[in-house]
Amino acid sequence: MTHPYWPLFDLLLGTPDLTLRPLREADLVRLAAIQPPDLELDPGATRFDGMPEPVNRGLVAFQGYWKAYGTWSPASWALPFAVYHGDDLIGTQTLEGEDFPRLREADSASFLVTEMRGRGFGKQMRRAVLALAFDALGAERAITSAWHDNGASLGVSRALGYAPNGESRHARGERVDRMVHLALSRDEWLASGHSAGVEIDGFDPCRPLFGLEG
Ligand SMILES: CC(C)(COP(=O)(O)OP(=O)(O)OC[C@H]1O[C@@H](n2cnc3c(N)ncnc32)[C@H](O)[C@@H]1OP(=O)(O)O)[C@@H](O)C(=O)NCCC(=O)NCCS
Repeated sequence: MTHPYWPLFDLLLGTPDLTLRPLREADLVRLAAIQPPDLELDPGATRFDGMPEPVNRGLVAFQGYWKAYGTWSPASWALPFAVYHGDDLIGTQTLEGEDFPRLREADSASFLVTEMRGRGFGKQMRRAVLALAFDALGAERAITSAWHDNGASLGVSRALGYAPNGESRHARGERVDRMVHLALSRDEWLASGHSAGVEIDGFDPCRPLFGLEG
């Protein structure tokens, strides 16, 4: 049944091996349980004294979910997808837009459970949200960032045609480290043919949420 108020819940992205559906509250307990130890959580997220660390880490997933939908506006949105391989929840892929109707630029972030890495799924799920960004939302540019030593994340971006877009210095735990920025233009995306094999279903009713005409 289609959702009467939040059309994002009927959006579906398909790739040859994966299905991406906007996260629902019912996914969160499972999502919190599969967060891999190397997933760097928002350092600004609230940590609650007295909670065991695994519970605190899981709470970040819950509060991130409520924040994403609870503060959604066409000018500032974050769309977290649950990534399924068959019936198994294996990770998340988020697409974000700040001032998107004007800037037409989207950022992304993701994780996969450890045992599903190295099989091309990271590239497939990024391709899925890039197809949404460029082909459905009309983005002009996609950006992404990763620590200089995050070989797999940088590898996904390079494989999909992103180009270097500078570096910045950020606090990483107790030290300072290099964050690498990359960008992919609309022309590069269209020329790459990487949207082939990505299916987008249920997008039209979502257009007003992104500030796009119906
Ligand atoms: C980032 C992540 C989702 C990628 O998923 P994945 O399954 O590893 O990615 P894929 O197999 O689709 O592709 C990885 C690409 O990077 C390359 N790669 C992987 N590890 C690499 C390394 N250490 N150095 C250089 N390249 C590397 C692969 O060869 C592949 O590129 P290719 O197709 O050109 O050969 C996954 O590694 C992950 O969950 N990491 C932990 C969370 C994280 O860091 N998220 C990103 C920050 S937001």
